[in-house]
Amino acid sequence: MKGPRTAKPLSTTLAAAALAIVLALLIPLGAAHANNGPHGNYSATTDACAGCHRAHSAAAEGLLIEAVPNLCLSCHGAAASGAQTDVESGAYNGAGGGDLLGGGFVSYQGVAVTSSHSIDGSWQNAWGSGTTWNSTWDCLGCHSDESGLPWPGAPEWLKSPNALPQPYSGQNVMMPLTCTSCHEPHGGRNYRLLQQRMHPPTMQQEDPPGYVLVTSNETGGQNPDQAGYVPDYTTPRYRLGLGDWCTGCHFTYQQEVSVKPFNAEDGKGAIIRYRHKMNTALGAISTGLPLEQKDGYSSTQQATDQLFCGTCHYAHGSTAVVSGLAANVAPTNDSALLRLDNRGVCQDCHQK
Ligand code: HEC
Ligand code: HEC
Ligand code: HEC
Ligand code: HEC
Ligand code: HEC
Ligand code: HEC
Ligand code: HEC
Repeated sequence: MKGPRTAKPLSTTLAAAALAIVLALLIPLGAAHANNGPHGNYSATTDACAGCHRAHSAAAEGLLIEAVPNLCLSCHGAAASGAQTDVESGAYNGAGGGDLLGGGFVSYQGVAVTSSHSIDGSWQNAWGSGTTWNSTWDCLGCHSDESGLPWPGAPEWLKSPNALPQPYSGQNVMMPLTCTSCHEPHGGRNYRLLQQRMHPPTMQQEDPPGYVLVTSNETGGQNPDQAGYVPDYTTPRYRLGLGDWCTGCHFTYQQEVSVKPFNAEDGKGAIIRYRHKMNTALGAISTGLPLEQKDGYSSTQQATDQLFCGTCHYAHGSTAVVSGLAANVAPTNDSALLRLDNRGVCQDCHQK
């Protein structure tokens, strides 16, 4: 393999992770599924497959009724009735109603979004996805034709136009992003069907080894693939793992000092970058923003609650307004999925 080679500790960790991935490919994942809707918990005579597949008359590849994302939106869309979670408007239409924790792809709380993760499958820069090891092909050592290795489930990716020249680590990889990049439609071990095949650089919890585990403090949220799981789509009940999960794509964003130079497309080129600390308990700081509560749910802040990606960002899309100094901040030049207008997130904690 053209992946990690040198004997540095990081590479060793990565090589071990890569091996774990290879091994895990050979071990069938747990047979138990639950989750929700047509996603998992299948009986021997389930009807669920027909919600998405046709045997002889499929209109899209993979024997699908429709291609992703429209397949998903045929139930989760604003005009659809097949699910209570309307991810286009970011609204929960079930008992009690409310705003979805993920934000919205089109609007949220009735206002048009100003940034979102893309879902149309077009190739996009996954900011900060460059590796930290010295490899000839970076992430593309495995995620492209160049490796010559057929990796099941791993799509072919492209090198970003701003990638550093070979043989250095890449700046970013470009990947086709859609619902199934992040969610596993057949159910699984993680919170919200989040893809288990992510292999971020650090994992506070993993299951099976080499795969990131994401749990919540919802009823049954530590085992959403088993009976007894009761999702709460409108109250933050994060437990552990989601912040690590995001770095399955934004690989370097937990490094307080970037291990490799990074081009943030701000005119400063590829230089070492400094980043806000992650996965840290707040100490004396108190906040109204969501935290990961690794010791269980509480409506008040606990000493061990920690800051994670979801503290400042929505996963799907945001309506935050950015103006003045907060406008046009490279590389996205938009509201970057932020939970509050401008830099309201900073002030909510630091009260300067
Ligand atoms: C909510 C929609 C949905 C339901 C329900 C569903 N599938 Fe799928 N299935 C998909 C999508 C989307 C893909 C393509 C996966 C991808 O692109 O990552 C897929 C891929 C597959 C594949 C090929 C790749 C793989 O993951 O193994 C098989 C086999 C499969 N489905 C079988 C089934 C069976 C059997 C059922 C019923 C027990 C079922 N599916 C229910 C959406 C669904
Ligand atoms: C040593 C080989 C290897 C390297 C290097 C590698 N990956 Fe992967 N990656 C895999 C394999 C294998 C899978 C699929 C695992 C599975 O399906 O069980 C995967 C899956 C993924 C997925 C899930 C995507 C999907 O749709 O399946 C993401 C995201 C990902 N890798 C990101 C990265 C990033 C970012 C890098 C570079 C920082 C990287 N990978 C480098 C082997 C590798
Ligand atoms: C970049 C990754 C990513 C993409 C792309 C993505 N999701 Fe999500 N989704 C998440 C995460 C993370 C959560 C959990 C959000 C939370 O609880 O804060 C989530 C939550 C959800 C939920 C639960 C309700 C909510 O909003 O919290 C549904 C339903 C869902 N996603 C469906 C979809 C559909 C359908 C698509 C495509 C149209 C999609 N997702 C695209 C990452 C993604
Ligand atoms: C046939 C209708 C249907 C289709 C098609 C469908 N879903 Fe769902 N999905 C549901 C229902 C019903 C639920 C249960 C919650 C609700 O009512 O919104 C659900 C729940 C979810 C959840 C939350 C699971 C949890 O942990 O609580 C996610 C994430 C999700 N779907 C993603 C997707 C994605 C991605 C696709 C496309 C590949 C998709 N869905 C296609 C009906 C559907
Ligand atoms: C303390 C708040 C905060 C946390 C926590 C946070 N971010 Fe951000 N993020 C921001 C702000 C603010 C921006 C806008 C650009 C800037 O100021 O750097 C941003 C921008 C981004 C961008 C767009 C590219 C860029 O660099 O501008 C990505 C991708 C991103 N964040 C990913 C993540 C990931 C992944 C995590 C978790 C590892 C995370 N963020 C945690 C505040 C945060
Ligand atoms: C499967 C890969 C993948 C995962 C997982 C992922 N992202 Fe992203 N993210 C991308 C890609 C690709 C882009 C750039 C294209 C776009 O904006 O959709 C992006 C863009 C972003 C942006 C900038 C959006 C904008 O346009 O302003 C932020 C912020 C961000 N991600 C945060 C997160 C957070 C927080 C998580 C975890 C909840 C996460 N990402 C998980 C692939 C991913
Ligand atoms: C959820 C609360 C929270 C939010 C939101 C938050 N911070 Fe912090 N910040 C912290 C904590 C906790 C530390 C202390 C980390 C440590 O040293 O253990 C910190 C540390 C810092 C530091 C000192 C870091 C250093 O390297 O010296 C700066 C500067 C900073 N934050 C700026 C910001 C900015 C700018 C934003 C908005 C983009 C922001 N913070 C958002 C909690 C937060």
